[in-house]
Amino acid sequence: MNFALFNSLNGAPDPTRALNLFPALTSFYQALGNTPLQPVPGPPGGGRILAKFEFVNPFGSVKDRAAFGMFCEAINQHDFSRAPLKLLDASGGNMGKALAKLGQLCGIPIHLIIPDSSPPALVDFLRDAGAELSTVESRFFLLGLISLAQAIGLRDPGWTLLSQHLNLVNVAVHQYQTGQEIRRQLTAEKADGWVAAVGTGGTLSGVYAALVRDNPALRVLGTTPSELPFGTYDPPNDRDKFGGAGGMGFGFRQPFLAHVGLEHVPFKEVSWQASLSAMYEFHRLTGVRIGASAAANWRSAYQLAQEMTPAQCVITLFADAGSDAERDRGEQYFHAMGALHPV
Ligand SMILES: Cc1ncc(COP(=O)(O)O)c(C=O)c1O
Repeated sequence: MNFALFNSLNGAPDPTRALNLFPALTSFYQALGNTPLQPVPGPPGGGRILAKFEFVNPFGSVKDRAAFGMFCEAINQHDFSRAPLKLLDASGGNMGKALAKLGQLCGIPIHLIIPDSSPPALVDFLRDAGAELSTVESRFFLLGLISLAQAIGLRDPGWTLLSQHLNLVNVAVHQYQTGQEIRRQLTAEKADGWVAAVGTGGTLSGVYAALVRDNPALRVLGTTPSELPFGTYDPPNDRDKFGGAGGMGFGFRQPFLAHVGLEHVPFKEVSWQASLSAMYEFHRLTGVRIGASAAANWRSAYQLAQEMTPAQCVITLFADAGSDAERDRGEQYFHAMGALHPV
């Protein structure tokens, strides 16, 4: 397996060529990003928490940004006079959804490598959007998905492998777009803390690179599932865990973090039960539906804010809105574990 990073850019990819060649992308592009940064419940007497509501993106998650960025860059680099563009990548969820929908809008074939445990509703969604699917045993998790995507790319060079874990476009969109939006939204303030779950690490790394320029003392806390923490030396597994994130296993680390100097960043481990409980609790408190990784980030941000003063603020990001089934399940864990936030 190849772990080399590529596509280092000084800005997010230029979307002009993609929009000219595929005008159907225009309404997606107009609705992408510029998501609200909203105050959410934080610890009494502690720092404030502001969350970036990424579930309002057109296909429902933060991954719309990285998917569109990699899509545009692939179009910018492709010679359409030689062969049609066909895109391949490994994804357990939101990236796959966004790529499948973008491919459908443009008539670009999309081949996705997904875990064989993917919920039938996700598989139907991806198939309905026209994506070709290959599966990997779910116990191999990210390493399994990445290695099959690379093997298919090597066997059939007709596919352009996007490599969301290695393609620095994934960091650039967050550094030059998500992160800049947050800086603008903070107006006179600066961020004192930054909290995000790590799937590829694109969000954590890119936004960090943007925010640390305003505050070199920025405190960063990663969020990772207890069942397969970031950097673990254990083998990968298919235990239930909050989605979109996780360690790779065997000591492998998502390489974007070291690329921006976050190799020693602390992590808070959040169990699947604790994330679902917080999903339920957040909805009960605010009426807003957030997904399990968002709820796990809320827990981590809450912990970091406990170590801050009311004059300080912790920024986090709510990647998607999750499902009502997970939220309903969270109710039982909420009653067993108790509330995070006092009412
Ligand atoms: C729900 C959810 N949360 C968090 C993440 C992590 O984002 P990143 O890949 O930028 O680390 C993802 C990525 O797929 C996700 O789907």
